[in-house]
Amino acid sequence: MPETRGTSDIFEAMSTMRAMRRLKPDPVPDELINKILQAGQWAPSGGNTQRWRFLVVKDPEIKKKVQVYYKRLFDETVGPRYAASAPPPGSDPARYKRQQAAVEYLTDHYHEAPVWIVACLEDGENPGRTAGSSIYGAVQNMCLATRALGLGTTLTTRHTGYGKEVDAIFGLPPDAHSYAILPIGWPMGNFGKLGRGPLKDVVYSDRWGQPYGGL
Ligand SMILES: Cc1cc2nc3c(=O)[nH]c(=O)nc-3n(C[C@H](O)[C@H](O)[C@H](O)COP(=O)(O)O)c2cc1C
Repeated sequence: MPETRGTSDIFEAMSTMRAMRRLKPDPVPDELINKILQAGQWAPSGGNTQRWRFLVVKDPEIKKKVQVYYKRLFDETVGPRYAASAPPPGSDPARYKRQQAAVEYLTDHYHEAPVWIVACLEDGENPGRTAGSSIYGAVQNMCLATRALGLGTTLTTRHTGYGKEVDAIFGLPPDAHSYAILPIGWPMGNFGKLGRGPLKDVVYSDRWGQPYGGL
């Protein structure tokens, strides 16, 4: 049965949280956005430093300015890369084609999602290798909360290809950077089973490459 409802079952949420790239432009109540933001703030951060800042972006002009860079990156790198690559594990040519079409759709309609949450971190002027680990937990919490509420989103990071330009549009100071944009809205399609490869292919026992017999 097509699934459009929210769920409070965490395993159901995780296993059906497709990247929802086709979103309706209808408004999303602030009350729901606040729940998503709260889920983000509940995440852990290194040393409990909590240097995250979350921008709730609804201004159509700001979203459009960022979409221009998002589209440019599709034309310059992402589109050609998708066209030249093979389906990932758990996918197949037809499914991968549908993914590509959805990626292109989101590229063209990015700014039409009624609300964006931009996950930023006050990480200093030269962030190190683990900086992202103090923000992506919050991002995943927000994605799961979005799914729990029956809303759709996709974790997007493509804009970081023009990170300086995009951060300037959002008015970020030099010691802060945006790490992800979550376009949020009511989904046009259904939640459902994810395409992933066999779990046994990616789990080892004790040493790299040694099969794990527990599955
Ligand atoms: C780090 C990261 C960056 C991503 N950036 C983008 C992006 O910029 N645009 C996009 O459409 N999807 C983006 N995605 C979504 C992935 O393409 C998606 O999670 C993957 O195709 C699996 O989709 P599924 O969960 O629906 O199977 C990103 C995902 C991750 C984890």
